[in-house]
Amino acid sequence: MTTLMVLIPHFKALHIGMLLLWCSGLFALPLMLARHDPVIGQTDYARIRRATHFAYLFFITPAAVLAIASGTALVFLREVYVTWMFAKLVFVATMVTFHVWIGYVLVAVAEQGGTHSAPAPTAPLVLLLVAVLCVLTLVLAKPDLDDIPLPGWLTEPRGHQMPFDVPKR
Ligand code: HEM
Repeated sequence: MTTLMVLIPHFKALHIGMLLLWCSGLFALPLMLARHDPVIGQTDYARIRRATHFAYLFFITPAAVLAIASGTALVFLREVYVTWMFAKLVFVATMVTFHVWIGYVLVAVAEQGGTHSAPAPTAPLVLLLVAVLCVLTLVLAKPDLDDIPLPGWLTEPRGHQMPFDVPKR
């Protein structure tokens, strides 16, 4: 077993830990943004605005980066170049889009206070829940999706050298 293979459980633990933080943040932020209502009073408004900004910048975004980085490392260490993995990445892209959109709303609400209010959270949260459930179903059930045709560049080696050693089976 190569040195890198020994790291797989550690990367997986990091991956799952950061996912918990990232996903919980993605669910909490639209609810926090919905509380950005000037009628709650200046002090409470300032407090919830700072808390939302702080959570997005210092917890949820770093957790997303670490979840994606550890997941990317796992792709190479576990050599999962398979269809369910690519399908999972499509739904992860939906989560990343949601993350970026939350950042946009956060800035818009902060900078255009009074004129820009946060959207109702229900529909975005249902969409997020569907994406997270699809990701979890794909990675946990690992369904055989080999009948779905994939372009060659996803399935054939490109002939380039990796910048690090990939463990052999
Ligand atoms: C770019 C983003 C991501 C990449 C590249 C990635 C990649 C991976 C890889 C390669 C594994 C190991 C699979 C195996 O051992 O067979 C894994 C495990 C896992 N991933 Fe991700 N992942 C990403 C994002 C996510 C997200 C957003 C979620 C959940 C919402 C998630 C949930 C999980 C879970 C629960 C496992 C453990 C599965 C198991 O051990 O059977 N991943 N991920």
